[in-house]
Amino acid sequence: MSDVSATDEMMAAARTAADEWDAQLAVRREAFAYKAYERVRRQVLGLMALGRNRRLTGHAPSDYWSGELAKFEYMLDASPLIIEKLRHHTHNLTGLHANHYRQSLDKQRRRFTEKLAALRALDDADVWIPESRLLGGFGFDIEGELVNIDTLKFYEVLIALHAGAVLGEMRQATERKLVWEIGAGWGGFAYQFKTLCPNVTYVITDFPELFLFSATYLMAAFPDAKVRFYGEVPPQETFADWQEVDFVFLPDTFHGTARPDQVDLTINMVSFQEMTTQQVEGYVRRAFEFECRYLYSLNRDRSHHNHELSNVRSIIGQHYWPHQIDLLPVSYTKMLHEDPDGEDGGYKHVVGWRRVSGAEPAQ
Ligand SMILES: C[S@@+](CC[C@H](N)C(=O)[O-])C[C@H]1O[C@@H](n2cnc3c(N)ncnc32)[C@H](O)[C@@H]1O
Repeated sequence: MSDVSATDEMMAAARTAADEWDAQLAVRREAFAYKAYERVRRQVLGLMALGRNRRLTGHAPSDYWSGELAKFEYMLDASPLIIEKLRHHTHNLTGLHANHYRQSLDKQRRRFTEKLAALRALDDADVWIPESRLLGGFGFDIEGELVNIDTLKFYEVLIALHAGAVLGEMRQATERKLVWEIGAGWGGFAYQFKTLCPNVTYVITDFPELFLFSATYLMAAFPDAKVRFYGEVPPQETFADWQEVDFVFLPDTFHGTARPDQVDLTINMVSFQEMTTQQVEGYVRRAFEFECRYLYSLNRDRSHHNHELSNVRSIIGQHYWPHQIDLLPVSYTKMLHEDPDGEDGGYKHVVGWRRVSGAEPAQ
């Protein structure tokens, strides 16, 4: 074969490979999760534009979160390959990487097994839900189920909500309940909660950019769910038929502009600690004004790097009577062999009961 025809053949093979790849990508763009992502992205771009002026007038993220948001701008232009592995990209929010969970890390796997067993011993309501294998779900494989730090954290939260006499009501609800999570990250807890308590409308307030993770994940996990983004109907109708909707996504800039006639539980985990005092006070006050009976928090009093916040528990205490629930001697971030938390340093499970009257002064 001459050099010329060998080169032609090589170039033709390269073109065919590129065409085949494009054809494969076109098929993967049709996948349900990718279609969900495309809908979410359209909404997110709209919500970012809608909130732009509000960002300039007192609705700005804390210094810490301004920096974090910039790290995953690439999610506004995600290929199907990223969405198929969406969970591998949630490290942007949680710091958890799939490669921390290689089966070969035997010692670490044993520690997760021990911690799971310790939590199971505290669980008398059977609320364990493993990490889903959906969209690149990862974790140590323990008896055929995936377990990671997020899964164990959510398990603790469900046990605490049960111990605080809140979860039973939601699980057995014959009438629809409304649960509002502020700062839901990638939506992992919403997935667990909605699985355990299907008769719940789950509202998520977060920066719109975060819906690229949470809304895409939840729409893929619950393909039949009815999902609404703020702005898809006139704002005053956001909650008009809330009993018919499974998930509502309401950006932080518009929290408080649309009000449902019922809020049964407000949830915040690993999130108030990263906000400013003004933001936490705003959310707690609004839960109170919405006549929400319970406010649950899993937070440190303040993240080490956050200099814009006073103290989460004392802000909650202004409108809610805080009940602390102690489960394990260590925070969710640690394994059982690690040093127990100091009195003020660790994460606290707090179930707040709504105070009857106005604000108590902060402690
Ligand atoms: C560390 S992540 C935790 C996510 C989730 N709660 C979890 O535990 O996996 C903190 C979350 O708080 C959200 N957040 C930070 N400041 C916020 C604000 N002012 N309003 C609403 N959400 C906020 C972030 O966008 C993110 O979703």
